[in-house]
This record gives sequence, C-alpha cells and structure tokens, in this order.
Amino acid sequence: MTVKTFRAMLVEEIEGAKFVRKITHRSLDDLPEGEVLVRVHYSSLNYKDGLSATGHRGVTKNYPHTPGIDAAGVVEDSLGHAFNPGDEVIVTSYDLGMNTPGGFGQYIRVPAAWVVPLPDNLSLKESMAYGSAGLTAGFCLLKLQDRGITPDLGEILVTGATGGVGSFALAMLAQSGYQVVAVTGKMNEKQFLIDLGATEVISRSEATDTTGKPLLKGRWAGVVDSVGGEILSTAIRSTKLHGAVTCCGNVASPDLHINVYPFILRGISLVGIDSQSCPMSIRQRTWKKIATEWKLPDLSRQTSLCSLEELDREIDRILAGKQKGRVIVDLDR
Ligand SMILES: NC(=O)c1ccc[n+]([C@@H]2O[C@H](COP(=O)([O-])OP(=O)(O)OC[C@H]3O[C@@H](n4cnc5c(N)ncnc54)[C@H](OP(=O)(O)O)[C@@H]3O)[C@@H](O)[C@H]2O)c1
Repeated sequence: MTVKTFRAMLVEEIEGAKFVRKITHRSLDDLPEGEVLVRVHYSSLNYKDGLSATGHRGVTKNYPHTPGIDAAGVVEDSLGHAFNPGDEVIVTSYDLGMNTPGGFGQYIRVPAAWVVPLPDNLSLKESMAYGSAGLTAGFCLLKLQDRGITPDLGEILVTGATGGVGSFALAMLAQSGYQVVAVTGKMNEKQFLIDLGATEVISRSEATDTTGKPLLKGRWAGVVDSVGGEILSTAIRSTKLHGAVTCCGNVASPDLHINVYPFILRGISLVGIDSQSCPMSIRQRTWKKIATEWKLPDLSRQTSLCSLEELDREIDRILAGKQKGRVIVDLDR
C-alpha cells in the first residue's frame, strides 16, 4: 500500500542566496502530477546533482527542491496501459531532479514517456551503478561506432577518466576491444584506471597543449571527453584523419579554443552528446547494450554505496572533482 510520507533530501534557499540541504519527510501530495508513481530504491550521484544541490539556477530554477537526475524502482501506481504496479523501471534525465523532484527521495511521480522498463539481465542497483553517467558513456561509444571508429583504427582518449562518465566510457571501450588512453588529474589512481582497462594513463598537463598550434601530431582514432576547455581543444587537434570526438561535459571549462583546421584538413567529427533529450528509442537501445555486450563483469570496482544521510559529503566531493567512479544512493538504508 502506498505510504503518505517518505524520506527525501530537500535543498532550501535561506537568506543571502545560501542553500542548505537536509533529509526530511515529504508527502506524496508534494509531488507533481504525472502518470507513473515510482517507489525509488536506488539513485546515483551525478555532477549535475551537485549543481542542483548547491543552488545552480542553470540546473534548478525553484527551491525548495529534491535533486537526483537518476532513479530506479518499482511502479506503485500508473495511469494508462504503459506500466503496471510491480514493474521494475529506470527513470533518468528529462526534467527529473532538475525542476521535477528527483531520485534523492523515496518516491517520484513522472510522465510515462520518461520511464524505461528495466532491461533483462540488469538489477535495479546495477542500473544505478551506470545511471546517467554510464548511459552517457554508452551514448558516446554508440556515436563513435556509428561513425565507423572500430578498435583496429587505433587508440581512444578518455578524459576525466576517474569520473562517472569517464570511468564507464573507459571500461566499456576496453571491454569492446579498444585500446584506451586515460587522462586524469589523479595520477595516484593510475592502478584503478589500469584495472578498468586503460593501456596508458597520462596526466592532465600531458594532455594539454598551450602552444596554440592549430594541428598537433595525430594520435587518437577517437575521443570521449567530459571536461571541455583546453584538454578538449588539445584532443581535437591531436585526432587522426577522419577520427571522431564526443563532447558531453564542461567540468574544466565550457570554452573551446580551436579553429576549423581539424575539421577541414583532417575530416574530424565533433559529436555533441545530450543525454537529457536523447530519443527514447536510442535510450532503450543503449540500456539493452549496457545489459548485454557492454555489461561490466565487476561493477564493485568502480562504485560505492551511500545512504541519503551520507549523500551530503559525496555532493561536496563530486563538486571538488574528487569523485572516483560512481556513488549509488540506497534509498532503503
Ligand atoms: N551532456 C550530457 O548528456 C551529460 C551527461 C552526463 C554528464 N555530463 C557532464 O559530463 C561531465 C562529467 O560528469 P560526471 O558525472 O562524470 O562527473 P564526475 O564524476 O565529477 O567526473 C568528472 C571528472 O572530470 C575530471 N575533472 C574534474 N575537474 C577537472 C578540471 N578542472 N579539469 C580537468 N578535468 C577535471 C575528474 O577526473 P580526473 O581526476 O580523473 O581527471 C573528475 O572526476 C559534467 O560536466 C557533466 O555535467 C553531461
């Protein structure tokens, strides 16, 4: 039977544009209209959640608010025929956790169009090990493959490699037979990256060229970038003829200092990734691949588990660029 109140993180604005986070009880009446009510069992922490949890208006306009762009759980109530009570489902991105109360609460209510049936061969907890970061890494891999970047063409560069998107991109590429070079700011985590499948680990300074040359020696067949800025600029200028570079994040910088030469002299593709608006057909195709050919044998290597109460300190860590792998939030603890 559906409960009337549930536990959730609430971010509130106090005077002076300061934001505070607390774990509190919310009512189902606090949730918006929507076709599907889901009892959330697991969520996960993404960089965007850190921004929402600290009052970043580019992510969340109105407070008080419950962040959490990822949720996995069981349908408790559903209007229409798309889902039935008891169905196991995943909800990621769209507006979840941005301006719609998100997965850092034990219940969400969302449109049926946002809901993905949990694929066979994946548990709710495993789905949140991947979450938006793993799904985005999957979109990047799919885009490289769609552009004909096969393992025999050479090395793939992955930036932000210890982070959520980076660590899953690295592991899924390695599992698919690619040689992967990892860029990290945490050289003390070199062994972690090698265990995930990196053939070489380089520092951010090695991956950053400041000479301003429009083209550098071509090394990469493909790139998965989640940091932007000078590292992305260097990666594009170091990509080989007809290579492809996916771009999804801006933790280093939203700026990109390049000119047109990599595109008109080497035929390189710069491919944007926006998981939030990704069509449902591609979303479902990617989840299926994650549950089968890209499924990683040991997710415990790159995930840790926390409760709602422990989430506060993890939010500070991800915003400081200190996250390693993925943090799964267990809403039942
Ligand atoms: N477009 C989309 O659809 C989409 C989807 C998901 C995420 N994103 C974006 O992708 C980015 C990464 O997300 P995430 O969840 O993977 O975050 P994350 O877990 O915090 O990982 C980001 C990683 O980037 C590296 N990094 C941090 N600060 C840096 C800096 N100043 N310069 C260079 N590298 C730095 C760190 O790895 P190392 O220490 O190993 O270098 C860090 O662990 C964010 O901007 C996020 O908003 C976009």
